This record gives sequence, structure tokens and C-alpha cells, in this order.
Amino acid sequence: MQTKDCIIGRRSIRKFTSQKVEKETLEGIIGLAAYAPSWKNTQVTRYYAITDQAIKDEIAENCTLGYDGNTRIIKGAPVLMVIAYKQGISGYERSGEPTTNKGDHWEVFDAGIATQTFCLAAHDAGLGTVIMGIIDDEKIAAAAGVEEGQRVAALVALGYPDGEPNAPKRKDVDVLLNWR
Ligand SMILES: Cc1cc2nc3c(=O)[nH]c(=O)nc-3n(C[C@H](O)[C@H](O)[C@H](O)COP(=O)(O)O)c2cc1C
Repeated sequence: MQTKDCIIGRRSIRKFTSQKVEKETLEGIIGLAAYAPSWKNTQVTRYYAITDQAIKDEIAENCTLGYDGNTRIIKGAPVLMVIAYKQGISGYERSGEPTTNKGDHWEVFDAGIATQTFCLAAHDAGLGTVIMGIIDDEKIAAAAGVEEGQRVAALVALGYPDGEPNAPKRKDVDVLLNWR
């Protein structure tokens, strides 16, 4: 797939078919997401693939801040990805002091870039994704067994798309781009 087609054609997919996501397919996607840039190449993003029904149900029912939309998406997704990042490394000096005045901003920034790279790689492999931010990250960390020293950035539902949603309208370039 051409890069341009991958960027334009990726959509947030909220309904999936029952087709299983093979282990090798997901490993291939993670292998590509690993090429996302990161602060000093620290690569702090970690991925937890949840297929266990009980864990998925716990997250769907108790970790979406009461937002039914996300509960439905998670219940219907063959795989739920918990995207986490190791804390206190990206954006920090070896002494533990933040390098800039943005504090823990850069580790979340890195996780965001990695997440979009993951979503584009998944789209290229014929899979659909949706990033979910309306979540209780601490409860998810407990439910998914996220390792000590890591924080949950977002959830991503993953599976084969059931349908082709239209692209929500984008802002014009002259609104987005400022020249000085
Ligand atoms: C940080 C972030 C959080 C999001 N949270 C949710 C969410 O909780 N639930 C949901 O259905 N979609 C969520 N989305 C998906 C956006 O609604 C979607 O990307 C946007 O409407 C544009 O549509 P597109 O991805 O198909 O281009 C989120 C996207 C981002 C980047």
C-alpha cells in the first residue's frame, strides 16, 4: 500500500468481524510499530494484547468511565490492545530530572506516535483499529497486569473491519498551517 493511501484510508473502526487475529499478524504489526521515533530512541512504549474474555469484559464493563460506546467496541473486538509506557525515561536525564519544562509530556508523546504507527501498520495489514481515550487507566493497568513503573496511555481495539465508515471531515490546510 502507498503511504499516502495508508494515511488517508485508515479509519477508526468500531465494529469488527469475528475473524481471529493471528499471532504472527500481530507480531508483524508490533515489529513495524517498533520503528516509530522516540526520545533518544528510548522506545518506552509497551503493548499488551488482551484476548482473555474475562479481562476484556472487566475492562469493557468497569474501565470506560461509564461510556457505553467504548464498552460496546471492546466487547466486540477480537483483540484489545493496552498501550502503556515506561515512566521516567523519555524526556528525563539519567539523574531523573526532566530535560525540558514539559515534565512527563514526552513519554506520552512517544506513546502517541507509536500508537499511530501501530494503527497504520494494522491498516496496511487489512486490520481495523480505534484508539480509545475515555478510560480509567489505573483500573486498566490492574486488570491487564501492566508491569510496575509503566502507565497506560490508551486502549486500541483491533480486528478485521465490519464495514467501511466514511472519513470525518478534515480542516482545510490554511486553517492548520501557519507561515511566519
Ligand atoms: C487520543 C484519542 C482518543 C480517542 N478516544 C476515543 C474513544 O474513547 N472512543 C472512540 O470511539 N473513539 C475515540 N477516538 C477516535 C476519534 O474519535 C477519531 O480518530 C476521530 O473521530 C477521527 O476519525 P478517524 O480516526 O476515522 O479519522 C480517539 C482518538 C484519539 C486520537
